[in-house]
Amino acid sequence: MKLTSLLNIDYPIIQGGMAHISRADLAGAVSQAGGLGVLASGGLSLEEIRENIRRIKEITQKPFAVNVVLLHPQIRDLAQLVIDEGVEYITCGGGNPLPYFDSWIKAGIKVLPLIGNVKMAKKVQAAGALACIFEGAEAGGHIGSLNTMAELPAICDAVDIPVISAGGIYTGRQILAAEILGAQGVQVGSKFLLAEECPVHINYKNYLINALDSDTVVTGASFGHPVRVVKNRLTDQLQKLEAEGASQEEFNAMARGAGGLACDQGDTEWGSVMAGQGLAYLEKIQPAREIIQDLMNQYKEAKASLLK
Ligand SMILES: Cc1cc2nc3c(=O)[nH]c(=O)nc-3n(C[C@H](O)[C@H](O)[C@H](O)COP(=O)(O)O)c2cc1C
Repeated sequence: MKLTSLLNIDYPIIQGGMAHISRADLAGAVSQAGGLGVLASGGLSLEEIRENIRRIKEITQKPFAVNVVLLHPQIRDLAQLVIDEGVEYITCGGGNPLPYFDSWIKAGIKVLPLIGNVKMAKKVQAAGALACIFEGAEAGGHIGSLNTMAELPAICDAVDIPVISAGGIYTGRQILAAEILGAQGVQVGSKFLLAEECPVHINYKNYLINALDSDTVVTGASFGHPVRVVKNRLTDQLQKLEAEGASQEEFNAMARGAGGLACDQGDTEWGSVMAGQGLAYLEKIQPAREIIQDLMNQYKEAKASLLK
């Protein structure tokens, strides 16, 4: 069955959950425009998550998902909250979702976990996932080690459930490429950072627009937590600490609070400006609806040109 029918959406575009960022306004706008909007749970209290779920339901009648971050400090209560609030779809990241699968599936929730390799893809399929999301290391934020071109086809060959390709999707041509590699849909994060409905500070958005294609770096890999972010004074210092063999405590002390500094206060020098490798295509601020329409129009044009 096609992913769009499975999720009851118009376009095979999922907006990636983004901690501190993808709250009700963005998720609701994406769903209303025919994609699958995703409310992030990262950085929100249980009460804030509940309020945001209710607010999305006011914005749209269409399907949406909650991104359950397995590292959430109140993960057990969060796992129950999504059941109590009647959430229909869950994406998950930042840990192992398998311990919660049974209760979610019993409650009728459809689970779309993030997976990083074939072994995990097979495990979530066996546990009853509706689909799985493979995120290539081109993506913004916390990343795995494998890249889309090499790994996506292997994941698609290994499982029967639909595979969604995340990381590096900024144009319709890339959606078509993901389809050719075997994916049934895409998850888009960084592109939605430039949505009008996205609450990140205007300085963050302008920093992305002005960045060069080669401006992302990965920090934290030496501690096993690689994060793709746009380079600035903070990343220079973090990379210096890593090169000098600093302890994780020293590294964390410098990185602490940097997300809020960039997103809320607009400090693009010392804040963490997370984004993926498609900076060349982060050109302007647009309504979420227009981002989705542009992506789908480009996709259709690219498909038609292949058949010429
Ligand atoms: C600023 C930012 C924050 C993110 N936060 C989360 C998160 O809280 N949970 C999650 O599962 N993925 C998170 N991601 C990953 C996205 O959901 C998505 O998979 C990724 O952005 C796709 O790659 P792209 O940035 O190239 O589009 C984040 C990505 C970005 C850019």
